[in-house]
Amino acid sequence: MRSSSLLLFSVLVGVCEVQAASDLRVCAFNLQHFGESKSKKSKVMLSLTRIIARCDVCLLQEVRDSKEKAVQKLLDSINRYDSKHEYKAVASERLGRSESYQEQYVFIYRTGSVTVTGQYQYPDNLPGDVDAFSREPFVVRFKAPKTVIKEFVLIPQHTTPTNATKELDALYDVLLHVKKMWKTENLMLLGDFNADCGYLAKKNRKNVRLITERGLYWLIPEKTDTTVRESTSCAYDRIVVYGERFSRAVVPSSAKPFNFQREYKLTEEQALEVSDHYPVEVLLKGKALRVSSNVGTLLAFFSYLVFHMLTW
Ligand SMILES: *[C@@H]1O[C@H](CO)[C@@H](O)[C@H](O)[C@H]1NC(C)=O
Repeated sequence: MRSSSLLLFSVLVGVCEVQAASDLRVCAFNLQHFGESKSKKSKVMLSLTRIIARCDVCLLQEVRDSKEKAVQKLLDSINRYDSKHEYKAVASERLGRSESYQEQYVFIYRTGSVTVTGQYQYPDNLPGDVDAFSREPFVVRFKAPKTVIKEFVLIPQHTTPTNATKELDALYDVLLHVKKMWKTENLMLLGDFNADCGYLAKKNRKNVRLITERGLYWLIPEKTDTTVRESTSCAYDRIVVYGERFSRAVVPSSAKPFNFQREYKLTEEQALEVSDHYPVEVLLKGKALRVSSNVGTLLAFFSYLVFHMLTW
């Protein structure tokens, strides 16, 4: 009697065990002038490492690494800190209108979560678009087999504050361009858009197609504070997804800033040494994995055998 109920139990476990794959975390972080001098501060590097190692893919902005050593140092630090995963990076060229001020976009990603399947530097001048950006988007396509969406494209942007309205509007052209070029609708735009407070006035929002056009989902709520300074409260950093299919592949309400000051118990001053921005993040739904019923049957058979050997 007991052995048959055990058998039944094992079969049920085998057949019904459904293990949800974990969700994929995509982040965007303005590191506020990340270069040689920041990379020499060990406490700052530890915070940056912990912040970035939370993410499956993390877009870094304001990388100002003219000696080209700081990013490698950060990547090494992340790989040492989280030895369970392997992290790699893809970086844009140094971008900017003046020689003296240039930034790179860098994506740090876990190789077990995503693979890079395409890279595209949006050009300075396209017909009908006379140099809209200070830092043209460095667009990267990722394959993510463990997620519901399976493949997606990230379009980064760190706007110039005083030109934020125009640059955000022009991002819509980038969206259409990439959609056509790669024949995909799975597009996410993310970064420090400066999309709030003095840089994006309410009355100008009607001129921004990234806001007015249909099918765009702004995931970071309007009232969010993505700034570290206690004296400011602005939703500068944003995540926007295109299309209903992509929006359904996002874990509801998961888009938010990561308040590392509170999480790591830092003072405002210590946090500001890391950056004046919080990272923003969103979760993409993981694919549910079903344990095959063959495994279930096998499991049941062994439990049955073991039970009989024990009760012999
Ligand atoms: C703002 O955009 C205009 C025209 O695209 C450009 O000439 C100007 O340099 C930009 N301003 C800044 C601060 O980048």
